[in-house]
Amino acid sequence: MGDVNHNSNAGTHRWADRTDFGDGANGLAVAIADARAASRPLIDLTVTNPTRCGFVYDMAALLAAFAVPTALQYQADPLGAPGARQAIADQYYGQRDISISPDRIVLTASTSEAYGYLLRLLCNPGDEFLVPEPSYPLFDLLASMQDVTLVRYPLRLHDGWRVDWEALRACISQRTRAIVVVHPNNPTGHTAEIAEQAMFQAVAAEFKLALIVDEVFLDYPIHDAGPLRSFAGPANVLTFVLSGLSKVLALPQMKLAWTAVCGPESEVEEAVHRLQFIADTFLSVNGPVQMALGSWLPLGADIQQQIRRRVSANLERLDVLLAGSVCSRLPVWAGWSVMVRVPAVMPDQDLAVLLVEHCGVVVHPGSFYGMAAQGWLVLSLIVQQEEFDLGVTRLITGVDRVCNVEPCL
Ligand SMILES: Cc1ncc(COP(=O)(O)O)c(C=O)c1O
Repeated sequence: MGDVNHNSNAGTHRWADRTDFGDGANGLAVAIADARAASRPLIDLTVTNPTRCGFVYDMAALLAAFAVPTALQYQADPLGAPGARQAIADQYYGQRDISISPDRIVLTASTSEAYGYLLRLLCNPGDEFLVPEPSYPLFDLLASMQDVTLVRYPLRLHDGWRVDWEALRACISQRTRAIVVVHPNNPTGHTAEIAEQAMFQAVAAEFKLALIVDEVFLDYPIHDAGPLRSFAGPANVLTFVLSGLSKVLALPQMKLAWTAVCGPESEVEEAVHRLQFIADTFLSVNGPVQMALGSWLPLGADIQQQIRRRVSANLERLDVLLAGSVCSRLPVWAGWSVMVRVPAVMPDQDLAVLLVEHCGVVVHPGSFYGMAAQGWLVLSLIVQQEEFDLGVTRLITGVDRVCNVEPCL
């Protein structure tokens, strides 16, 4: 048996089990590909790539930052260019009155990459980390690629997505190394309030776990809820706070993210020392983008405002369109997504396929984000307004007719 290759796509090679991803196609992806192959136009209500949503970027200011001699010089620094880390400390955290030394900021190409580094830092193969459910779907792949086990702690829908602390504690084992907090969470759009932040810190301290806090949507509170409180700053437990340009400046293509390491002095020092080796192995962050960061961060206010306005307008429009339909939506406190409740007459994935095939609209099934219950769809709130209107109208018509499966185009 020892020589038998268990992989589905074995061919003549021996592949690592962790890369046995199958063909990656699910029913929804196939339906979308078929519609595109048949040139059937689709309204995509899942677009979260801000560069495709009609926002106005200050192109001159962005590109001017590359037209400097330093853009052609390379100086490797494992943690990232000191000037870029200083800019994050001064401008991003400074404006929130959070004092953090640039020496405790580690740059990566993306927050996804930062997760990879942190799992490498904290976990041996087979160790566990806790993630909220529902949440961002990339965790499964991140875990399998780092040979670690993902354990999901439930959020309570009926309670505004508050953490079920008893259930979270029950998830902790001898092998648990970290708790992930997504603040604000995607797709629920809820945030960890101050009391909940303290509770996460208390549980992490009790079980000697690290906190990994994903704050990529921190700049996107809805309805002038006021600035959201970051986990960065003084902390009694080792805390890694993640953010990056894909949301802060709505520039995912620029590939720059950061991890602010907070907590007890000696643990922070050791963590940064070890992260330095991991980062030095890859040196993945683009040089010119690091050079540009100081002049780019001030541009965040404008693009964030455009996005927050779009999100609010789409939410208002959604409420108008949903009124009187069989669908409803959950409250959203922050972020770029909304969860829509639909009659649970079939698995969400099947409904999403029907909506593509019969109504020409793409939505994500709740199951994509780990929603165990049926009857949930997730929509992006940064879609351009006309498209959003048309897409939601098609969605509602489609759901109304879903039992008869009549085309609604
Ligand atoms: C909660 C959350 N974290 C991280 C990311 C990915 O960010 P990055 O582009 O920096 O990898 C996303 C992407 O949408 C996200 O929703």
